[in-house]
Amino acid sequence: MIREAALEDLAEMARIHALCFAKAWDEAALGDMLKSPGIVGLIAPGGFVLARVAADEAEVLTIAVDPAARRRGTGRALLAEAVSAVQAKGARTMFLEVACANSAARALYGLLGFHNVGRRKSYYEGGEDALILKADLPLAAVGHGR
Ligand SMILES: CC(C)(COP(=O)(O)OP(=O)(O)OC[C@H]1O[C@@H](n2cnc3c(N)ncnc32)[C@H](O)[C@@H]1OP(=O)(O)O)[C@@H](O)C(=O)NCCC(=O)NCCS
Repeated sequence: MIREAALEDLAEMARIHALCFAKAWDEAALGDMLKSPGIVGLIAPGGFVLARVAADEAEVLTIAVDPAARRRGTGRALLAEAVSAVQAKGARTMFLEVACANSAARALYGLLGFHNVGRRKSYYEGGEDALILKADLPLAAVGHGR
């Protein structure tokens, strides 16, 4: 169900991103990312994830699941697969930023073993802080299985 995202998927990725974020990335922006070095792009029905590896560090650039497809395990499966993929490319740690108020994403990240290592004050438009989360790879077996 999860596969590598390709340029043919950009329209679907942009559609999903627009449903998930006020400042969404369009097809051109997503395409530039997909073509850049160290990128892991994975897509599943209703969702996708982009991550980037540089040396032994990886970063989640975005993860998005269509509101109509949420709470079915797609986000968790995409993130777990992205973790495996960046690990295979040599990453030993993975970072991401998440808005303090984004309880859904924070719950998902916590389930996979990401923990809080910092805060960026007023990171988002509107002044909301971002939390910086980190996981050491390979992930410890955490959370409940499906
Ligand atoms: C965050 C997001 C990707 C989760 O996708 P999803 O496919 O719904 O997530 P899953 O179904 O895999 O959820 C896995 C677990 O995460 C937790 N979780 C997910 N959504 C949650 C919510 N709204 N409230 C509380 N916990 C939640 C639950 O523990 C869930 O397991 P459960 O359904 O068995 O209880 C999705 O909500 C999304 O696209 N949000 C908008 C974009 C976004 O905020 N991206 C992250 C930016 S940092």
